[in-house]
Amino acid sequence: MKNILNVEDLQSMARKRVPKMFYEYADSGSWSAETYKANENDFSKIKFRQRVGVNIENRTLSKTFLGKKVSIPLALAPTGLCGMQHYNGEILSAQASEEFGIPFTLSTMSICSIEDVAEATSQPFWFQLYVMRDKAFISNLLNRAQDAGCNVLQITMDLNILGQRHADVRNGLSAPPKFKLKHIKQIITKPRWALGMLRAKRHFFANVVGHAEGVTDSGALWSWIAEQFDSTFSWKDLDWIRNQWKGKILLKGILDPDDAEKAAQLGYDGIIVSNHGGRQLDGALSSISALPYIVDKVANKMEVYMDGGIRSGQDICKALCLGAQGVLIGRPFLYGLGANGKAGVTRCLEIMRDSLDESIGFLGENDVNNLSRKNVLYTSYKKGAFD
Ligand code: GLV
Repeated sequence: MKNILNVEDLQSMARKRVPKMFYEYADSGSWSAETYKANENDFSKIKFRQRVGVNIENRTLSKTFLGKKVSIPLALAPTGLCGMQHYNGEILSAQASEEFGIPFTLSTMSICSIEDVAEATSQPFWFQLYVMRDKAFISNLLNRAQDAGCNVLQITMDLNILGQRHADVRNGLSAPPKFKLKHIKQIITKPRWALGMLRAKRHFFANVVGHAEGVTDSGALWSWIAEQFDSTFSWKDLDWIRNQWKGKILLKGILDPDDAEKAAQLGYDGIIVSNHGGRQLDGALSSISALPYIVDKVANKMEVYMDGGIRSGQDICKALCLGAQGVLIGRPFLYGLGANGKAGVTRCLEIMRDSLDESIGFLGENDVNNLSRKNVLYTSYKKGAFD
């Protein structure tokens, strides 16, 4: 994969190899995709301060995430249907991240199950929870994740209703799924993907099928999912989840300093500044724009992570300069996975690492832990703008 030089190269390869409906499931935002695009574009509003005349021979990219060492300040974000980008997608991505020394997060809506991933890895991975209406299912899921050794729980705060992504509606990825001839064609025209799928350990949401009451086949599954989004979910519903989870908890999908403050007051271990990859509220602020306001309010009380729009180590570097403890990537690793399975995910991580390493060197820094706002210039940030 040495001719693959950046995430865009992985993306174009994935677009050729993955059936359209699954490629587009990953590569889409809600409605006009304004926030999806802003997530990427707003990084270019932040400019680096290049410094020279500093010995940058030995550079370190390692940090701690919730007290555990990571080789670079990056984790893989939870992504639904990861195992549809490539057969055994969750297993391969978890293995690639483990070998690289960074955390992998398994989504509730994964294709391979918690147990499948645990069996194929040796380090603890992170688990992401959707708060759904079926509380017995959630309790069981939390127990399963803890039994599998998951040490960090990400609770998704911004998906109690679903943002409309037009591509999913057109591609039949809605409840109930509407598969037509054109969708079958999308699959048979990607023989490499389809042959791989014949070898896949799982083909449907394995955390759910056989575990949620009444969900024994894929037909029942789609209606169960549609009924499960819990629009009554509020801050106080977090307590019973917290009482059942022994490890650390990150609240994911925080975009406003007041919500960050609330999470800090409640004593959570950290938050992930995120707009769900621009897949939920179209018109929301990009994650990188929201980050500094949130850091100012809570970074002295909890760890602040961010996701959304990271496409290079330069982007990671900018987020760290603005005060993030670390970042998560979703689409970039999915493109790697769709392009070439585990080797593609590893290539994605190498690209992130090498471009981060180069960037900190040009900033005259030897250690990612020393990055701060002194290293960047940006005009869009106004202290107190949310007040
Ligand atoms: C699920 O979290 C999605 O964004 O599709």
